[in-house]
Amino acid sequence: MKKKVALTGDRPSGKLHLGHYIGSLVNRLRLQETYDQYVMIADLQALTDNFEHPEKIRENVFEVAKDYLAVGIDPQKSTLLIQSQIPELAELTFFYLNLVTVARLERNPTVKAEIKQKGYTDTLPAGFFCYPISQAADITAFKAEVVPVGEDQIPMIEQTNEIVGKFNRIYHTDCLVEAEALLSHTPRLVGIDGKNKASKSLGNTIFLSDDAQEIKRKVFMMYTDPNHVKVSDPGQVEGNVVFEYLDAFHANKEEVEDLKERYRKGGLGDTTIKGLLNTTLQALLEPIRARRQALCEDEVREILWQGTQRARLVAQKTLSEVRTAIGIDYFLGRF
Ligand code: TRP
Repeated sequence: MKKKVALTGDRPSGKLHLGHYIGSLVNRLRLQETYDQYVMIADLQALTDNFEHPEKIRENVFEVAKDYLAVGIDPQKSTLLIQSQIPELAELTFFYLNLVTVARLERNPTVKAEIKQKGYTDTLPAGFFCYPISQAADITAFKAEVVPVGEDQIPMIEQTNEIVGKFNRIYHTDCLVEAEALLSHTPRLVGIDGKNKASKSLGNTIFLSDDAQEIKRKVFMMYTDPNHVKVSDPGQVEGNVVFEYLDAFHANKEEVEDLKERYRKGGLGDTTIKGLLNTTLQALLEPIRARRQALCEDEVREILWQGTQRARLVAQKTLSEVRTAIGIDYFLGRF
């Protein structure tokens, strides 16, 4: 029986962090067991807001690939690929651009928030503005049915499905397939500052590759309850980053609930809960870091090359169906 397809990816504008891990990597590890899963390093998308620093993206393509392999994305089970090496994705994007209005792009809440965060005014690059359309090309090229991502990506999948519906209707075809987001139990991880979601650009996150000392430093910097001054003071659990991370990463839920109760009552110090979180995160990240260090660049490049070649064949097939549906297959079979 043909396996269902999952497609997912990340922008290589930095190394992957705990937000990626809990938001989508855990699901990807699970999906690769039963799905035909494609994991894309979205370097073209990363370039849309980093086009002046291509060297940064180039470097992070390999860092992200290492992160994937280190957490256990298995090249025997998942196909790892580099977006920019599949020109069919750019061509699909070109067809889809016609099916999306500028007004619709302006309403995409994730893009809207990013435009604000980056301070774009009339400096907004058209490529960045249109990246949801290129993402629709990524998803549909592989006929993905499931997309394991964080919740900020839901608007992208909605837009993709609108494009799928419109394309199939206008060109009287069923060659494009609708996709569904798969969220994790913690679809959004708060940053160590407690203010924003964990993100590299805000500098409030723990990277999968951070060393033991750095992890500890960040844990002990975490925002807790500013009114919990003395150990004996009653403390607040809501909005307390340490408890949010314990909820996300500590295996023993009962123990966490018990600690919350004691913290609320008073008598439990921040040092104790931070100590426990530190132990939890060290245990999670130590083996990942060790696997990462054992990888060599040539090995990683070869895995990406094999995966990208395999993925390109799939994208080529979809593209030829798309061209036929539009009726621009003038030299069919001769190219
Ligand atoms: N937009 C995603 C991010 O911000 C990356 C991405 C590109 C992606 N193409 C994708 C995610 C396709 C899922 C499916 O990291």
